[in-house]
Amino acid sequence: MAYMTKSRHRRLILHKISPLCDLVATGIGGMLRRITSGTARPNQEKHCMRLTSLVLGAALGCVCLSAAFAQEEPQAVRQSQMKAIGQSMGALGAIAKGEKPYDASVVQASLETISANAKAFPDQFPAGTETGMETEAAPAIWDNAEDFRAKSDKLAGVADTLLAAMPTDQAGVGGAMKALGATCGDCHETYRLKR
Ligand code: HEC
Repeated sequence: MAYMTKSRHRRLILHKISPLCDLVATGIGGMLRRITSGTARPNQEKHCMRLTSLVLGAALGCVCLSAAFAQEEPQAVRQSQMKAIGQSMGALGAIAKGEKPYDASVVQASLETISANAKAFPDQFPAGTETGMETEAAPAIWDNAEDFRAKSDKLAGVADTLLAAMPTDQAGVGGAMKALGATCGDCHETYRLKR
């Protein structure tokens, strides 16, 4: 619930700073034009320069702020969480297939990434994020929030069990891949839209 209001709030702020950013951009354009066309008097020019740098700073602030807000949108957060899970599965897969030698530190880091992201994933579906940012989240998530969370917990649980009894060779990593992989399809089937 807290997240929902936070994200609404964020969108509201973004809405408010957008016209401000436009204003700032127009200001910079005008000043630069005056300076380059030579219509500004020398002292006016100095003044303009100082103002320009001030305004440029403000513009930069705007850009950074917008970027920070955009990045924190739950749709983007949950997609990057899934991406991290996918990449970790890729690293495990390379070992399982013998493309990479067994490396305990890679196996551990991959399992930790999967566990942490699977635990945090279900919190990134506040009301109001059913669409947008090319989300592949199915509407069923919001109808069956508990089941959805259980499926994510299942993946985290499998990863935690493997962390407690780490696979020690290529074949072991292969077995781990199977156990982890079964949970992906089980959730995607119901809760991820096919595009
Ligand atoms: C609890 C449900 C659930 C589980 C478990 C799950 N996923 Fe996902 N996955 C989703 C949903 C929902 C999306 C779409 C998210 C969005 O676009 O907002 C997704 C998207 C993805 C994406 C695309 C990310 C992107 O770039 O947008 C990848 C890759 C992915 N999942 C891999 C995996 C792998 C690999 C596993 C198993 C190790 C897994 N997922 C387990 C629900 C799940």
